[in-house]
Amino acid sequence: MLRRPLIAGNWKMHGSTAWTQQYLEELLPRVATDGPEVVVCPPFTALAAAAVIVVGSPVALGAQNCHWEEKGAFTGEVSAAMLAELGVRWVIVGHSERRQYFGETDETAIRRAAAAQEAGLNAILCVGETLAQRQAGETFAVLEAQTRDLGRLGPARLAIAYEPVWAIGTGHTATPAQAQEAHAFLRQRARQHFGAEAASRLRILYGGSVKPDNAAELLVQGDVDGALVGGASLDVAGFSAIIQAATGQPSLAR
Ligand code: PGA
Repeated sequence: MLRRPLIAGNWKMHGSTAWTQQYLEELLPRVATDGPEVVVCPPFTALAAAAVIVVGSPVALGAQNCHWEEKGAFTGEVSAAMLAELGVRWVIVGHSERRQYFGETDETAIRRAAAAQEAGLNAILCVGETLAQRQAGETFAVLEAQTRDLGRLGPARLAIAYEPVWAIGTGHTATPAQAQEAHAFLRQRARQHFGAEAASRLRILYGGSVKPDNAAELLVQGDVDGALVGGASLDVAGFSAIIQAATGQPSLAR
């Protein structure tokens, strides 16, 4: 099964509206319609302005979180329907920074992902072990627990991002072999929940210090179908170079 590579930029809490507009005006001419699927995930406040610019372009818009209810007394939260109304097509859920700083759990991550799918959005479900867990030999056990309820999601509007916590924002990228090993495990988990065919279509992204100079060696791995890029996505030239690295992956061509 050939999977179209997916390159998503997670801007985290970076990007004013003005900065977003300028960034997208520079990025759009560099993105081909027949290359990898490209998603940018600005902060909530910049989404409406970004939507106007990306409409009709090959760049899709993602958000960095959504709530599981459609509306209600949930101060500070944003629903998937509200995002869909803006033209958002993707939502990151369960990011390790949400887990670490905001009490996100496997359960809330799945609920958010399910709500995103119900609203017609695509979810990027983030999983990954901490350094202590890896050193204790618990990587697969952690990934297994984090994907225990995968069956509550549909396989179609879904990507999984393997983001080892020790690699996020640290400059310590997983080796291609470490990434491939974890991705193969996650695909096996997807097989158990969704069956072989759907699992073979599922895109599993690597995230954690992806840079222009290490993207190609990660993306060439058989089960690495794209990247969730944090810091390096804030630079148009760097993000474009990562998209370019995905373009050259014959095993991942459409
Ligand atoms: P990083 O972040 O590329 O800056 O390590 C990745 C992420 O948190 O999604």
